[in-house]
Amino acid sequence: MLGLVAMAHLLQRRAGHPGSRILSVATYRPRTEVGNEPIAALIDSSDEWIRRRCGIESRRHAAPDEDLVTMAATAASKALADAGIDPRDVSAILVATMSHRGRAATVAPMVADALGTSAAAAMDLGAACAGFPYALATADALVRSGAAGYVVLVGAERMTDIIDKHDRGTAFLFGDGAGAVVIGPAQTCGIGPVVWGSDGSGSKLLRYDESGILRMAGPEVFRWATAIIPDLAMRALDAAGISAADLAAFIPHQANLRITSVAAKAIGLGPHVQVATDITTNGNTGAASIPQAMAALPGTTGPALLVGFGAGLSYAAQVVTLP
Ligand code: UT7
Repeated sequence: MLGLVAMAHLLQRRAGHPGSRILSVATYRPRTEVGNEPIAALIDSSDEWIRRRCGIESRRHAAPDEDLVTMAATAASKALADAGIDPRDVSAILVATMSHRGRAATVAPMVADALGTSAAAAMDLGAACAGFPYALATADALVRSGAAGYVVLVGAERMTDIIDKHDRGTAFLFGDGAGAVVIGPAQTCGIGPVVWGSDGSGSKLLRYDESGILRMAGPEVFRWATAIIPDLAMRALDAAGISAADLAAFIPHQANLRITSVAAKAIGLGPHVQVATDITTNGNTGAASIPQAMAALPGTTGPALLVGFGAGLSYAAQVVTLP
């Protein structure tokens, strides 16, 4: 006991920061735009059904040279340039992804290498489609504690690597791409308290099969998501000390436009709130969807409510000040 007390005296704390904030946001959108018709032809569906059931008109599919690391590093590099931060000044790289296959190494160290920040701490964070708000909460804690200065956080997915183009429940829904933010120290709070959780009893609703292909019980996930989002959103607003009327934007995970609409109505968002609808031209890009949707609302400033949800089941929400 005495030894422990003595050791405690030997440890010193790093000086932290009062808050952190998002300094910039950028995306990588793959070159190839794919409309609904070629996908519908493989799954006995139609452009009309896909638009009606999830609001998607087109999505991007990555070409072979648009691998996960390239897309993530390109989005990160743009975000760093927009923030005016030298890559050598980045102390941590976080990559939220659910579609990295086939290599033991995680994506983040390869992104760090591509950016020339190889001394930065680098790790992947697996919380599927809730990965971005989970990683954002982690980045905020790292900066406020002083464990990191500037953090690059990328959501990156090649969902086409993990979906079956003949699966009627997923083939039309998912797309590829990356979205990145740079987070840095701030005198005030630009990333509000996270409200998060999980329900592993639903882990089978979104799972990889024996071949590593994503299988989804769509209607069950739809019902779960629409049931949890209103309460999650209210708790995130309460934690940040604001109300729905104070919001400038609502940026949920772009899972299905109908989920977004049901949630926006349940939260009681006024007409002044910009509701992210990036899914219409990008599909559901997993952990990349929130930063991509954020980048698609350029002139919007002020508080935005982020909500992520997906496989795990995992969920997280927080209010941020848009860059
Ligand atoms: O990102 C991670 C979290 N993921 C989500 O949040 C996704 C949540 N789920 C969804 O977004 C929706 O469940 C989907 C968009 C995936 C599917 O839409 P749905 O309205 O739930 O379709 P359903 O599976 O309930 O099927 C409704 C009908 C059925 O026909 P009947 O039984 O009503 O005659 C299906 O057979 O639509 C039929 N159907 C299709 N028809 C044309 C199912 N899939 C298709 C299809 N094309 N691809």
